[in-house]
Amino acid sequence: MSASNLTARHSVPALRARKGGEPIVCLTAYTAPVARLLDPHVDILLVGDSLGMVVYGLDSTLPVTLDTMIAHGAAVVRASERACVVVDLPFGSYQESKEAAFRASARVMAETGAQAIKLEGGIEMAETVAFLTARGIPVMGHVGLTPQSVNTLGGYKAVGRDAEAAERIVADARAISEAGAFTLVIEGTMEALARRITEEVAIPTIGIGGSPACDGQVLVTDDMLGLFGAFQPKFVKRYANLGETVSEAAATYAAEVRTRAFPGPEHCFGMKKAAAV
Ligand code: KIV
Repeated sequence: MSASNLTARHSVPALRARKGGEPIVCLTAYTAPVARLLDPHVDILLVGDSLGMVVYGLDSTLPVTLDTMIAHGAAVVRASERACVVVDLPFGSYQESKEAAFRASARVMAETGAQAIKLEGGIEMAETVAFLTARGIPVMGHVGLTPQSVNTLGGYKAVGRDAEAAERIVADARAISEAGAFTLVIEGTMEALARRITEEVAIPTIGIGGSPACDGQVLVTDDMLGLFGAFQPKFVKRYANLGETVSEAAATYAAEVRTRAFPGPEHCFGMKKAAAV
């Protein structure tokens, strides 16, 4: 990584200062080609552990390993120049203790060149967020619907529907903000709740199933491109239908191979004249 590469990127302090300003644009990226395409358009590339479901076909994010996150994080950093790259800490790599979280984060930062890590959780993770931040590791928080807790939540459904649950999420958001996180993802909550958290915390909030009032928005890229068909949450807007495009291209290719229409002469190597047989 060159010094110019570092200075060209959206920095953590610059993003932190976007509270109440121009909305922060964030998309997930897991691979080099996708990172290269998204980089000119976004402020943050999130190497989310959603890659377990999107890329590896798992039915939750729980089996994703730290080594997998590091391999994908390094690819995204290599293929981008402008975006701040944030890598998710996977389930089991940080919940046990703040020291375990530091070891996992230090590996992510050193082995990928990413600018920050993201972790899920509220009050119970605040001490860890403070520990990491004080030791040079910028943290993006994640409250509301936290997919790594799918088994305690009982599914991937919106949270904070009653007053008591909503107050707990506000307290979580406050704790993570006060612990020193530089941004906070709010996922799958009531719109009014995401709006209230955005008003109450000092750091930029990034909504996904949150509120238009959030300080930024994030979507899973494969969802918004129509590439991930397993299910489509209410909060996803499809900006393209690449799934259909890929399927049509594969069908045309298959037909052309079967009828010998592909490859044509223009796709074949000829011999030099003198050597022609
Ligand atoms: O893993 C992920 O992609 C995420 C986003 C949905 C915020 O955490």
